[in-house]
Amino acid sequence: MSVVQITGPQPINKIEAMIELFDRVRAQTMRIVAPLEVEDYVVQTAEFMSPPRWHIGHTSWFFETLLQAYSPGYRVYSEEYLFYFNSYYEGFGKRIEKSRRGARSRPTVSETVRYRNHIDQAMVGFLENIETWPDPEKILSLAQLGLEHEMQHQELLVYDIKHLLCDIYDAPKNSASAASETVTGMAEIEGGLFALGYAGEAFAWDNEKPQHTVFLQDFAIDRAPVSNGDFLEFINAGGYDDYRWWLSAGWETVNREQWRAPLYWERRDGQWMIRDFHGLHRAEEKANEPVAHVSYFEAAAYAKRAGKRLPTEAEWEKAACFDPKKRTKQRFPWGDAAPDIAKANLFDNQYWSVAPIGSLPQGRSAYGCHQMIGDVWEWTTSDYAPYPGFKSEFDEYNDKWFVGQKVLRGGSFATPGIHIRSTYRNFFHPPERWMVSGFRCAKTL
Ligand SMILES: [Fe+2]
Repeated sequence: MSVVQITGPQPINKIEAMIELFDRVRAQTMRIVAPLEVEDYVVQTAEFMSPPRWHIGHTSWFFETLLQAYSPGYRVYSEEYLFYFNSYYEGFGKRIEKSRRGARSRPTVSETVRYRNHIDQAMVGFLENIETWPDPEKILSLAQLGLEHEMQHQELLVYDIKHLLCDIYDAPKNSASAASETVTGMAEIEGGLFALGYAGEAFAWDNEKPQHTVFLQDFAIDRAPVSNGDFLEFINAGGYDDYRWWLSAGWETVNREQWRAPLYWERRDGQWMIRDFHGLHRAEEKANEPVAHVSYFEAAAYAKRAGKRLPTEAEWEKAACFDPKKRTKQRFPWGDAAPDIAKANLFDNQYWSVAPIGSLPQGRSAYGCHQMIGDVWEWTTSDYAPYPGFKSEFDEYNDKWFVGQKVLRGGSFATPGIHIRSTYRNFFHPPERWMVSGFRCAKTL
């Protein structure tokens, strides 16, 4: 996918660009689910995942709320769908409990697709006539919000399909290149004042703003994400048996959940194996790939044993996008150009998996850190909280989650290329690990 610039210094026809982006994003969701059989769409394999049919309906429901609010005379498609496809929005009425999304077979998959097509037609018709409605700018910004929301659900679909089918899922996949560089050690980064957050003109979430000044101590950060090989060493050294490395809540979780390894690791004949979309492989064969599906607790325990710690989000962001020679911040580690498959392993690469460490040297940051964008979302120690001066732009979207979660940075192999930037703040609860989450370590100098 290429980037359509919706807002920027030289706007092209914004409405046409929005319709084109709308068509492209909506079609991409359906491409992700295309290899599913009809039975796959309705099953919920765990409380944290949602049946694929729910995602394709929910992302349509999201646009229906826009039509309800702004399209005069729009009639709700089905009250029942409003109930089933609402996720967590109190402002939009009652909804089914998340853990019950797989407990009903209606609406059926074909009914859901019909609903989706209905919303597509209504939205395109609405956008085509946008200039006849009051406040077209507001509508365009909500349409953009709906598409960014849909791209988040595309990524969630990949997580959920992995939990549902994993290597049974027969999607077209590309293979990652082999490593062309060995990436070791830590980059040393000077402290001082740093402008944290987003200050550009294109779309960014409200939680990335406003850009504000923070003070950093001198620090060092791993040039590569922690690998499966590194993590296997932690496991083999008894890392999961030693309370000394764990946060109290983490140790409790390890014991309650009987964790012995990251999610999707399996013990076979005394060997650790990793299952992913490509099959089941010995962990040793994947030793040079970033570890994925670890919780904050596991990342923090590993870092403590290594005599390091996780970075703060400000440290991560400086390492990812500050150029010390030019003294400026860039949109991405490699500069301001949009991601491409040689620079970052995002969903556009279609690897459906992490890439070997050192296989994307063109994507390294000015400080020599590799694979900060793509592959795995990286845990930081930062609590997910509003930046000073935060103004909510969308009710119940980002602002109501400002407690009890940690910030992750950088995107993963399941993130659409047009959806990510260095200032992007994702957030999950410390014990969660069904998403594509990894980490790199830091230390204060
Ligand atoms: Fe949602």
